[in-house]
Amino acid sequence: MLKDMLKNLNIAIIVAAGSGSRLGSGTPKQFLRLGNREILSYSVETFSNHAKIDKVIIVTSADFLASVKKNYPNCSVVLGGSTRQESVAKGLKACPYRTRFVLVHDAARPLLPFDIIDSCLRQLDEFDGVAPAIEPVDSMVSIEGNRLKNLSRNNLRIVQTPQCFRVDVLKKAHTSPFVDTDEMGLVSKALPDARLSFVKGAQINMKITRDGDLEILNTYLKAQQK
Ligand code: C5P
Repeated sequence: MLKDMLKNLNIAIIVAAGSGSRLGSGTPKQFLRLGNREILSYSVETFSNHAKIDKVIIVTSADFLASVKKNYPNCSVVLGGSTRQESVAKGLKACPYRTRFVLVHDAARPLLPFDIIDSCLRQLDEFDGVAPAIEPVDSMVSIEGNRLKNLSRNNLRIVQTPQCFRVDVLKKAHTSPFVDTDEMGLVSKALPDARLSFVKGAQINMKITRDGDLEILNTYLKAQQK
């Protein structure tokens, strides 16, 4: 009992405060339905069922605060900000005192494989930050004016979530003036000496963003049920 009270905690922060819907439905994508459930519920369930995750914090917008509190009574639910980075900062503030590792996950990535959480946590024994990533399969170019520059795929990664850190590292990066679209980007700018690493991501851990993404995941779920 006392041992439990003194143990360091691993906290999942699920960011679900985005208002935009490039899917054109008007409802933020994390609250659309996949199969017969809300998209947000999948990642909440995955983290809640993982033996090494002690608590799930959901960050959401004012419009959905009451319903998220009602629908996920075992999670802490806090108000987000106007950017993803601000929402993560609010989640960090809600972490309990004994937090050791934080795993920041996009609510819009419902089908997070369980073993990615395991690989990330294992790597955090040696690194300050870890995230899943996949290698691009298409040719990659950068466009400068009307010139195309071919980029070497070997040096490129598509970075997914959960982005996992020692809590002190991520909090320190959040006190910097830097801004980025994700935590790996922010930490690498703010703390260039931080030891960062990637584990193997998964295509199914895709972020629902464009028309057709929901159909892909619905088809996958149906095939799994057969
Ligand atoms: O917009 P984007 O797809 O990059 O959002 C990634 C994740 O960040 C989504 O789960 C979204 O709900 C979350 N987000 C947030 N607060 C914001 C903007 C995005 O929690 N202000």
